[in-house]
Amino acid sequence: MSGADAVGLPMRVPAAGLPEAVTIYEVGPRDGLQNEKAVVPLAVKAEFVTRLLDAGLPIVEATSFVHPRWVPQLADAAELMTELGDRLGDRARDLPVLVPNDRGLDRALALGQRHVAVFGSATETFAQRNLNCGYEEQFAMFAPVVERSLAAGIDVRAYVSMCFGDPWEGPVALERVVAAGVRLLGLGASQLSLGDTIGVATAGHVTALIEAFGAAGVGVDRLALHFHDTYGQALANVQAGLRAGVTTFDASAGGLGGCPYARSATGNLATEDLVWMLEGLGIAHGVDLAAVAATSAWMAGHLGRPSPSAAARALAPALDRPADQAESGG
Ligand code: HMG
Ligand code: MG
Repeated sequence: MSGADAVGLPMRVPAAGLPEAVTIYEVGPRDGLQNEKAVVPLAVKAEFVTRLLDAGLPIVEATSFVHPRWVPQLADAAELMTELGDRLGDRARDLPVLVPNDRGLDRALALGQRHVAVFGSATETFAQRNLNCGYEEQFAMFAPVVERSLAAGIDVRAYVSMCFGDPWEGPVALERVVAAGVRLLGLGASQLSLGDTIGVATAGHVTALIEAFGAAGVGVDRLALHFHDTYGQALANVQAGLRAGVTTFDASAGGLGGCPYARSATGNLATEDLVWMLEGLGIAHGVDLAAVAATSAWMAGHLGRPSPSAAARALAPALDRPADQAESGG
């Protein structure tokens, strides 16, 4: 039995009123690696994506077709998707990739990608900092991307960043977020991922935002939640989302992540932290926790520092220990 098989799991004690199953949308290779100081070698990236898929993650966002000068960490997007095609065959074409504009979509189409994501901002300042255009202009940039994608049979996810606060503009009113989200869905996006880019959300705020979308006619079936754990609130915020009926949560293996264009953006909600909590709540997720933790430990070795995830750190010693010496979880 491998060391990873010795990793424990929490005792399963379901709570009433929560979904039976959720989808974890893994963003580590994209949101995680875009924020690393050093460029991770292509072979390591490819191995990272493959290991996450092998761990049972149903969706792994692989990279971004953004301007290589803006995000040099992901400048090898085309080479990575080609390498993943060699490793995974047709399955690589279903891995979502970020595309901000027509040029990005051209690059993704040339490789035959079937899932893309545009990423908008609820605020003017972040639109300028992240996309080099104004709040209004961003919709004009995304409109042809979504239209051409749908015409080609490609599914489009839309992110909204700065849903709970913006480092330059401060708190962001619910109405502004709903307005941005409704416009992105109106372009034809199938799902809206609400980004707490700088991790300032708290649970009541999450509930209020989901209710505000509901009042605007956007149900929880079209929403995903994307938390960064800057202030340690990500899991509490997931709980609020679960209670409201949201069933898609973005997470990053080992808690890697951040946005190079958002001051004070730090790690994403760690996939291990999320899986640990879902497991304890008896909510189906389909992910092998030991395999994700082993992947994060392996990636931490490449990055030269330990994972910021509490669960990943707690699980790490058990990965090196024979099964009969491991403590049971709980
Ligand atoms: P720009 O410089 O304004 O681009 O950048 P442009 O349209 O003026 O074009 C200038 C040159 O760039 C042209 O080349 C274009 O062809 C080229 P030239 O004619 O001079 O030779 N170009 C491109 N090349 C390759 N790929 C492209 C591309 N586009 C133009 N896609 C742009 C505008 C949007 C491209 C730039 O601002 C950009 O790449 N921004 C991306 C920033 C980014 O990736 N941020 C992180 C992701 S967002 C995030 O992390 C938040 C999220 O996790 C949710 C949350 O947490 O809130 C999703
Ligand atoms: Mg993010």
